Amino acid sequence: MAVDLLLGLQWGDEGKGKIVDVLTKHYDIIARFQGGPNAGHTLEFDGIKHVLHTIPSGIFHKNALNIVGNGVVIDPVIFKKELQALEKFNIDIKSKLLISRKAHLILPTHRLLDAASEASKGKAKIGSTLKGIGPTYMDKTGRNGMRVGDLELDNWKEKYRALADKHEAMIAFYDVEIQYDLKELEADFCDAVENLKKLTFIDSEEYLFQAQKAGKKILAEGAQGSLLDIDFGTYPYVTSSNTTAAGACTGLGVAPTHIGEVKGIFKAYCTRVGSGPFPTELFDEDGATMGRVGNEFGATTGRPRRCGWLDLVALKYAVQINGVTELMMMKADVLSGFKKVKVCTAYDYKGKRITHLPYNIEAENVTPIYTDLEGWGQDLTKMGSAKELPDTLKDYISFLEKELEVPITIVSVGPDRTQTIHR
Ligand code: GDP
Ligand code: IMO
Ligand code: MG
Repeated sequence: MAVDLLLGLQWGDEGKGKIVDVLTKHYDIIARFQGGPNAGHTLEFDGIKHVLHTIPSGIFHKNALNIVGNGVVIDPVIFKKELQALEKFNIDIKSKLLISRKAHLILPTHRLLDAASEASKGKAKIGSTLKGIGPTYMDKTGRNGMRVGDLELDNWKEKYRALADKHEAMIAFYDVEIQYDLKELEADFCDAVENLKKLTFIDSEEYLFQAQKAGKKILAEGAQGSLLDIDFGTYPYVTSSNTTAAGACTGLGVAPTHIGEVKGIFKAYCTRVGSGPFPTELFDEDGATMGRVGNEFGATTGRPRRCGWLDLVALKYAVQINGVTELMMMKADVLSGFKKVKVCTAYDYKGKRITHLPYNIEAENVTPIYTDLEGWGQDLTKMGSAKELPDTLKDYISFLEKELEVPITIVSVGPDRTQTIHR
């Protein structure tokens, strides 16, 4: 059985958590393949809002297994808090949540290094979530990292000490003021590691291989979005993993020939949190309205998200890079108040009209060229079927499908599980 993928196509926060939760009933296994607690995936049902950071978004379904893959980086301290938030929901964590031995660990000093690196960059800072993501992936590729499987060894604390000491020397190298009490951080870390060790560790690539052979249906859940991909995103203002389809192969050990559907998810407009170029960003009342109506604040950091019109040039690029077979459009309800909606269909790039994403999309090089479409006045949040959608929204959807050459199969009209229209 092929493995399906669900990926964010913009700068993250497209609504991956909600849609994974909606789709889990069709799957046996949900597997996260990259990122870590920089992610914040929101799910809403029965009047309760849940935010997950490392745990896959299928966790609330009794019949699904959830796997944290080798490509993920885990902070035991944050993981412990996530598990505590789940305690009252009676989930059998030991059998429903499995952790790859090859997943790397975020140490307290990785978080400090992240802070030191950002502070040293001044105005050029990435706008990192400060969860230690960059330094942890650097240790992974530098072949210095600590993995979940190391915690099963008697001497894991020696390995930890050597790496943490090295990090302390590196922190001193950055000439910045960082206040911290490492003893306290380490006590929390060791306590959280003991908690993590109560969970089930697996050789996830073998587990997933056997599951595929046995005909199990598997959905790989992405974190962040394509424009934050380390190779294909708006470098250096990106995260430190491959957020695109290829990342699912390396982050789970799934062969490219075993990938099935690639479900790409996007908002009916665009948001970005953190620094970096954003051609269609709005600094006016329209942008403020999107932020207010869409409640655009980071699920992990609480920072306000920058908002702007849908950028089809960037979206097309993401569709191509990922080989998207099916699209899902989120937050159509947020644009309900707009008489006209704009879609960026080309860029003016150094005086030339282009329709592909160039190397450099900083504002001084790129001016978006917009197509205006009619807005939809009605409140969509109580609509339950595609028939009910206003004609102008149907036109918007048809316009996007024609431009992107991929069908839009889900239109989301609110944060709740039930506010999901299948087409
Ligand atoms: P993720 O990181 O891709 O899982 O997305 P986030 O959870 O960070 O951000 C998406 C936000 O939009 C969350 O607050 C969701 O509850 C909310 N949301 C998801 N779909 C919709 C929708 O269709 N309409 C509205 N108004 N909110 C939505
Ligand atoms: P989900 O999975 C939105 C952004 C940060 C910053 C850059 C690098 O919820 O969509 P990092 O902490 O990875 O070093 O930060 O990436 N970023 C996200 N933005 N959604 C996310 O995850 C993000 N994860 C990281 O804001 O600009
Ligand atoms: Mg998010």
